[in-house]
Amino acid sequence: MFSIKILVVFYSRSGRTKKVAEAISDILKCDKEEIFDTKSREGILGFLSAGSDANLRRLTTIKEIKNTPSLYDLLIIGTPIWSSNISTPIRTYLSLYKEDFEKVAFFCNRLGSDSKKVFVGMKNLSQKTPLALLELTSREVARDQYMQKVKEFIKNLKEELKK
Ligand SMILES: Cc1cc2nc3c(=O)[nH]c(=O)nc-3n(C[C@H](O)[C@H](O)[C@H](O)COP(=O)(O)O)c2cc1C
Repeated sequence: MFSIKILVVFYSRSGRTKKVAEAISDILKCDKEEIFDTKSREGILGFLSAGSDANLRRLTTIKEIKNTPSLYDLLIIGTPIWSSNISTPIRTYLSLYKEDFEKVAFFCNRLGSDSKKVFVGMKNLSQKTPLALLELTSREVARDQYMQKVKEFIKNLKEELKK
């Protein structure tokens, strides 16, 4: 679909962001990089640590990545919202690799929080203005009502890349 090399980077604790990442990479027929946290985020203790780490904007140790970001022309980076913030694994990825990519687009998954703060956080952390943004709710993803928004996001991205 695009003649450039694209990588979809995402973290997903409970599968929703992963579902959206897969839909995007299926349409674009591009590579994807799932980020894994070495700190367990499972169960109630994992939930609580995720909430406080995100709230305090802490970093974590993520598992070794498989794809070198600098080999791609565009990174599409997706995160769930945790405590109205970027999830800790994606905050860590952005902190570690922000120098290794240029063009970006962002997407996020949330229950109900405003995504603006998260997108501004991602923009500031990466020091890059995203070409397109996509926000989805857990409900939309659970009910498979997200494809239209995914397609619009890709359309917007395509338009921006033409400029
Ligand atoms: C620790 C934690 C904190 C969360 N905080 C928020 C929040 O502040 N606002 C919100 O809208 N959703 C919040 N959520 C909900 C997730 O963003 C939402 O369920 C998302 O779809 C999960 O994506 P995932 O399945 O890819 O992990 C939180 C979830 C977790 C685990």
